[in-house]
Amino acid sequence: MKGVILAGGLGTRLYPLTHATNKHLLPVFDKPMVYYPIKTLTSAGIKDILVVVGGPHAGDFIRVLQNGKEFGINHLEYAYQTSGDGGIADALKLAADFADQSPVTVILGDNCTDADISEEVKNFKEGAVIFLKEVEDPERFGIAELDPNDKQKVIGIEEKPQKPKSNLAVTGVYIYDGKVFDFINEIKPSARGQLEITDVNNIYIKEGNLRMANLNGFWSDAGTFDSLYRTSVYWARKNLGKKEKELTTFE
Ligand code: DAU
Repeated sequence: MKGVILAGGLGTRLYPLTHATNKHLLPVFDKPMVYYPIKTLTSAGIKDILVVVGGPHAGDFIRVLQNGKEFGINHLEYAYQTSGDGGIADALKLAADFADQSPVTVILGDNCTDADISEEVKNFKEGAVIFLKEVEDPERFGIAELDPNDKQKVIGIEEKPQKPKSNLAVTGVYIYDGKVFDFINEIKPSARGQLEITDVNNIYIKEGNLRMANLNGFWSDAGTFDSLYRTSVYWARKNLGKKEKELTTFE
């Protein structure tokens, strides 16, 4: 299985921090953000990885990741997204040659999780797999609607719904077969001017070829100030073995 990390986009929600460097190189506790999705992939045995970068600081990635050997990556490639904030599916499109019809595990560069996805990666055959996680703020995410008669079946996904049909977020971890690139070519930009990965996933649902899995463990994106802070506190607690209170009181 090959892996793709989507670290394009402009990171505008994190201005002025993202004037200094690319969003995915900002610190999440003691490491640059992109180290976390790399670890998720390498822990699942994925050692052949493409990183899609973008924006004015894309060159900084080479300095930080070099050829990937330090992270246990056998083969590291880069692609550059020229469209700025063209969308997640627009960034994924750049992985078509790299994937070369074979399945890919895709992870968003701001998704930090300690979940183990290796079973799903190992057992993947065809179609798409999405990973769901319960959240308290469903308006911020792609949200899955489940079949009332079959709670393992996703019947639709809405991107940032005002009236969410569940609190199950579609996390930024996906496994796709080679058809994903045909489906990306079918979709049109959304109201926010982006090619949405949610539209791609909804095509897989229509084709009856999307499966859900639960993402077990901690999961957060780190793309807003609030989530960047909370994600850092989580990893600080985990790595230092401390309770949140011990880290946030200064007396
Ligand atoms: O984190 C999970 C959520 O990520 C999902 O629930 C949503 O369905 C999905 O659309 C996405 O929502 P966001 O609005 O949070 O995505 P954001 O624009 O923050 O982009 C997330 C990452 O995707 C970003 O860190 C890098 C990559 N990306 C994004 C865009 C817009 C690209 O590589 N290129 C892009 O043009």
